[in-house]
Order: sequence, then structure tokens, then C-alpha cells
Amino acid sequence: MHESPTSGNWNYPTPIRFGAGRIKELPDACRELGISNALVVTDPTLVALPLFSSLMETIQFGGVNCSGFSDIQGNPIGKNVDDGVQAFKAGQHDGVIAFGGGSALDAGKAIALMVGQTRPLWDFEDREDWWTRVDLAGTRPVVAVPTTSGTGSEVGRASVITDQTTHIKKIIFHPSMLPERVILDPEATTGLPAAITAAVGMDALSHCLEAWSSPLYHPMAQGIAIEGMRLVHRWLKAAVDDGGDLTARAQMQVASTMGATAFQKGLGAMHSISHPCGAVLGTHHGLTNAVVMPYVLEFNRSEIDDKLSLLARYLNLPDKSASGVIDWVLRLREDIGIAHTLADIGVQPEHIDELAPMALADPSSPTNPRELTLANVSGLFQDAVSGRL
Ligand SMILES: [Fe+2]
Repeated sequence: MHESPTSGNWNYPTPIRFGAGRIKELPDACRELGISNALVVTDPTLVALPLFSSLMETIQFGGVNCSGFSDIQGNPIGKNVDDGVQAFKAGQHDGVIAFGGGSALDAGKAIALMVGQTRPLWDFEDREDWWTRVDLAGTRPVVAVPTTSGTGSEVGRASVITDQTTHIKKIIFHPSMLPERVILDPEATTGLPAAITAAVGMDALSHCLEAWSSPLYHPMAQGIAIEGMRLVHRWLKAAVDDGGDLTARAQMQVASTMGATAFQKGLGAMHSISHPCGAVLGTHHGLTNAVVMPYVLEFNRSEIDDKLSLLARYLNLPDKSASGVIDWVLRLREDIGIAHTLADIGVQPEHIDELAPMALADPSSPTNPRELTLANVSGLFQDAVSGRL
């Protein structure tokens, strides 16, 4: 198969500029949206790096005013969004540039949503038709520039924000939260350490894999999911092994956007488990998905045997059956240094009684291929904690 291009433009699900060096087009993207004074929402770890100061120079040199906001946590909380809204208003900004990993993108999108709302953030949780409560006139445009390749939040219509009073991760949703412009510049991801590259890359894989496995009917998402997994199969290890490999970085950016586009079809138990582990114990989202991935595939196997076999054939794995996919995941995890058990990342048997009901109630659970119950989710946790596969 021919290798994929490393630059281009496309308009699905939103206008995307893709290619090394294209971060320089950020001022143009702002102008297209009428942004003349941007609040740049970013991760606290990025704000001190040359990458961030160079970004601010690029924006200002291009004739757009800007100031930074980085008071956000790894798993952003409601207060981070409130503080960002205050900063937006204080600086008289007219749009958001969300620059960073999933936390910065999710926080930036939520800040842009909340700038002109009278209701609290939690009134816009992704339940029933709550999104219709949003006053569209009170939202502001977002340009998203991801610096990791995993969450794909740059093409998502939701943000995951933790309610700090209950420690529950909530999905805040509105169709207009889809950023109006995206710049995928692989040069912005080259500074990412190998371990984070591995963990977020596995998040991208989990999005594709759970969307592929979801029983919902969404033929477009199904096609996107399987091609996204081909890119992960081909490029994730290369991106982990050599962070400066711009081709691998570029293809993982595309895989990440594909995963998040595909999971409109639904997620499943990998995310059901990962969300409470992250909210209660602070485990890394992508890493947690990666750890639980083979256990969830084995758990769901009876329902997705045919889909996994088809995937094995598309990836041209040596064993073209469901077992071949599970073996591939296990080998990939090992090759890129992912732990094998939840216990290895701090989830212990005594946590299961608290975490299992939260996983069952997670919004990802209804689209898991096999129906989840408290008993089988607890069993899945026990297997993933102890390494029983
Ligand atoms: Fe995820």
C-alpha cells in the first residue's frame, strides 16, 4: 500500500490544515473566524517551553493580539473552566486558541462555550437534550492546535470536565463545541516524551477500536475507525522510538483525529473503566485505556469476533482471527512500554468496590458490545488489576 501524504487540507468533520510548519497559518485561521484578540488556553507544562513563546510570537507577528491562560489541571475541573471564562472576559477576548494536549483542548472548548451562558456548566452535560439549553449567541469560536496525538479533541463536539465536588468526569456536549478551525502540525508534537507518545497513541487506538466494536449503526464512522487503526499499526511504534520522526508524528496526528471522529459511533468498557480511574485516582487516560484494552477485548470477544477477524485481515496480521488482534495489542503494548495490569498504575483490589459502579454508570457503557452489569464490570476490573487474561 502507498504511504499516506504528510500534508494537505480537508473539511471533515471541520476545516483542517495538516502539515509540518502550518502552525504559521494560525493568524490566518483566526482572521477567518473574526478573532482579533485570542485567549490562548494551554497546559501548564507547555507554558514555560520555547514552543509556547514561539507560538505567541507567531500569533502576534501575524497581527492578532493574544494572552495565555494555563491554570488548568491534567484532568480539567469545573473551576478551571470558570477561571478561564473570567480571564476571557477580563482580557476582552473574542475567541479561543486551544493549544496543547487533551486537557488544554477540552478546557479551551468549554471556556468558549461558557463565555456567554447564564446556566452553570453542568447543565450542559451530555444527557438527553440538555445541549439545547445552550445559548448559541453566548459561545465564541475556537481554533484547535493539538500538541499530542491521542484524544482527538480538536475534532470532538464535547469536553470531559471533572466535577470537583463529586470527582465524577462529565461529558459537556454541544455540536458547536467542534472547533471551527484545526491545525495539525507534527512539529508541535516532536517534544512529547516517548511514554506520553505511547499512552496517547493508545488512546487514539482505543477510540478507533471501541467505535469499530460498538453495536450502533454508523457506516461512515466504521470506515474511519478501521483506517485509523491501520495508521496506528503502521506508525505508533515509530513515533515512540524516534520522537523526531515527522512522518510518524504526522500520521499519528491523523490517526488521532480519525479516532475522535469515529467515536461518534460510541465507546465502550475501556473508557467506562478509564474514566473513574482517572477521576478518583488520577491515572493517565490513554495509559489506562491501553492497560485495560486486551482485557476488554477478551471480555467482549463473543460479541465482536467477526469484527476483530475483519480487522486482523485489514491489518494483515499473521493470525487473521480475533486472537490475532488481541495478540497484536499485547505485543504493541509491550513494544512501547505499557504496563500489563491496572495494579501497575495504582489501581488496587480495594478500589474496585468504589470504581465499578462508577464505570457502570459511565456514558460509554451503553455502547459496549456486551451488556455491562455490576457483576461483570467488577469481574473485568479484577482481571485487569490482577493480570488475568
Ligand atoms: Fe479516550
